[in-house]
Amino acid sequence: MAQIQVQLGDVQETLLATLYARAVETGKKRGLLRDETAARMVARIDYDFTRFGRSPMLLGSVLRTLILDEWVREFIDAHPGGTVIEIGAGLNTRFERLDNGRVHWVDLDLPDAMALRRRFFTECDRRKLLGASVLAEDWPDAVRELPGPYFFVAEGVLLYFPPAQVRLALAGLSRHFPGAGLAFDTAGRWLVDNQDAPVFEKTVAASFRWGCDDPAEIAGWGLGLAHRESRTLLQLPKRLARSLPPQTRATLGVVRAALRSRARGYQVSLFDLEPHVPEPTSPGDRIT
Ligand SMILES: C[S@@+](CC[C@H](N)C(=O)[O-])C[C@H]1O[C@@H](n2cnc3c(N)ncnc32)[C@H](O)[C@@H]1O
Repeated sequence: MAQIQVQLGDVQETLLATLYARAVETGKKRGLLRDETAARMVARIDYDFTRFGRSPMLLGSVLRTLILDEWVREFIDAHPGGTVIEIGAGLNTRFERLDNGRVHWVDLDLPDAMALRRRFFTECDRRKLLGASVLAEDWPDAVRELPGPYFFVAEGVLLYFPPAQVRLALAGLSRHFPGAGLAFDTAGRWLVDNQDAPVFEKTVAASFRWGCDDPAEIAGWGLGLAHRESRTLLQLPKRLARSLPPQTRATLGVVRAALRSRARGYQVSLFDLEPHVPEPTSPGDRIT
């Protein structure tokens, strides 16, 4: 079978690094996740994945995926027929990993990244693929054709936006989907300022542009986001930690000790988009 050629913008190209991270983890004897589809996609794409080496970012990316999978799984358990929207889906296989046979799903990504995604994934009555920027106004209507409640997950996406665009994206989600859930990751300011330091072995051209030391503060931005929880990459949810084989737990303990200070700058957070309280329509509706 012919190899698939890729031509992606700098930020879009980062999707190949996270894809590779899941494929590498899958190839390990005691890997933290199994994603055979990722391994197959890596084999099909004409790209020098070895440039990503064994960067610590690869393991970080897998830990982030595991935490987000757990939160999406919790949403699906509570709302088996709801809709999950994966913002900046890249070549993520979260739907394949978590599908319960009833959940609805939207994969959203920039047009060039979505064109690549369409080479591997197809739509069905429960799943849409949308080629658009999260900052655009043309995709929420397509999402609303699927049943609520809604849960948004943006993995490795917002930290590439300048701060003003982060606010724009969050404000748009909050305006269009009051009451939805939202999960995304943030990098602390120190990490953003030092991302080119040799220790991180940065292997992509795109840079983090938004530094956030305390995700809970986002609730104070006046965008209708209520903070539920934040975790560092080494604070795995209890159910997930318990499900790992003892050997893997021991490995993580070592990583935790080695990375304690550095990992603190990177967090994964869960928010609720506050339900809009309708304005009173007549004087009689007003609470006095
Ligand atoms: C690091 S990759 C992560 C991909 C995927 N979430 C994963 O974990 O494998 C960043 C992704 O964000 C997407 N992205 C960047 N800017 C975006 C935007 N304005 N709207 C939607 N997606 C965007 C990129 O195209 C890319 O797929």
